[in-house]
Amino acid sequence: MKKLLKDIEREAIGQIREANQDKELETLKRTYLGRKGKISKLLKSIGRLPPGERAAVGLMANEVKQNITRQFQLKSLPLRKKTSSKLNQKIDISLPGILPDIGRLHPLTQITDEIAAIFLRLGFRLVEGPEVETEYYNFQALNMPINHPSRETFHTFYTTDNFLLRSQTSTVQIRIMQKQRPPVAVIAPGKVFRPDATDASHSFMFHQIEGLLVDKDVTFSDLKGSLTTFCRQMFGGETRMRFRPHYFPFTEPSVEIDISCMICGGKGCRVCSQKGWLEILGAGMVNPAVFEAVGYNPEEVTGFAFGMGIERIAMLKYGIDDIRMFFENDMRFLEQF
Ligand code: DAH
Repeated sequence: MKKLLKDIEREAIGQIREANQDKELETLKRTYLGRKGKISKLLKSIGRLPPGERAAVGLMANEVKQNITRQFQLKSLPLRKKTSSKLNQKIDISLPGILPDIGRLHPLTQITDEIAAIFLRLGFRLVEGPEVETEYYNFQALNMPINHPSRETFHTFYTTDNFLLRSQTSTVQIRIMQKQRPPVAVIAPGKVFRPDATDASHSFMFHQIEGLLVDKDVTFSDLKGSLTTFCRQMFGGETRMRFRPHYFPFTEPSVEIDISCMICGGKGCRVCSQKGWLEILGAGMVNPAVFEAVGYNPEEVTGFAFGMGIERIAMLKYGIDDIRMFFENDMRFLEQF
C-alpha cells in the first residue's frame, strides 16, 4: 500500500510538472485529488487493512495528498502568468503621470472680476442689461435724439426695425434708473458692438464696464475721488491721473481720464506712444436731460457716470498689442493668464 502511494505521488508530480495548460492541470487535479480520484479511492480502502497498519498508511496518504497539492500550487502561478496578457505587460513606474489640463478664466473675465471687485468694495452693486436693445435705450434716453450728429460715434448693427445691438453699456444706466429710485450705485459689465473694421485696436465686439452713482449732492470731486481710488488700486499707488475736458451727450461736464503710463512711469515709451499718458476711460456728471428721461428730478439729485473698455485695460495691464488675441482662442495666448 505504501509503495502504491509513493508510485501515485511520483506519477502525479511528474505529470503536473509537464503540464503547460490550465485545462490539463484541471484534469490532473480531478484524477488525483478529486472525490473519485486516486487518493480518495486509496483512502477508502484503508478500512480493509489490518488495524495495526491503518494509522501509518493514513498518515502517509495525507502527506502525499499535501505534496501533490503543493505541486499544483507551484505550477498554477507561473502558468497563469504565461496565459494572461495583462500580467505580461511591463509597467514602467518611473514614467511621469498624465497631467490633467486645468481650466482657467479667460483674461477678459479675470480683468472684469478685478475691476468689479474694486467698485464692489466702494459700495457699488453689480447689474447687467440686454445686448439686444432698442434705439431708445442706446440713443434717445441718453440724450441723442433721432438724426443728431452725436449718434455717429455710437453707430451699431441693427437687427429688425427699432432693434439693435447696443454700442455702449450706458444703456444699463437708463434701465436701472427706470427700475429704482435714488440713491443708485451700480456697475454694469458686458458686451458692446460697433461696425468697425477689425484691426489690432478695433473689433466689432468688445467689452465695457459702466458705472453710475446718483444721490443728493453728488459732486465732481466724488467722481474724481472714486475714479482715482479705482486707478490706484488697478494700476498701482504711484499712478497719476489727468482729467481732460471732453464731450459726451449723456454727461455734462464730461471728461476723458488718462493715467500716467505704468510701463515707463510717464517718461514716454512704445506703449504710450512716447506721450507718458494712457487714456483709460470716459466719465462725467450725469446730464439733467438723462434724469428727465427716467423721471428723476434734476433739481433734487446729481450723479456721475463712467465707462471703460475692458480689452483696453487688459491690453495696458498685460502689454498686449493686438485686440484680436482675445478672440482667437489660441491656447498659446490664453495659457499665459
Ligand atoms: N459710453 C461711452 C463710450 O462708449 C463711455 C462713457 C463715457 C460712459 C462717459 C459714461 C460716461 O457713462 O459718463 O464711449
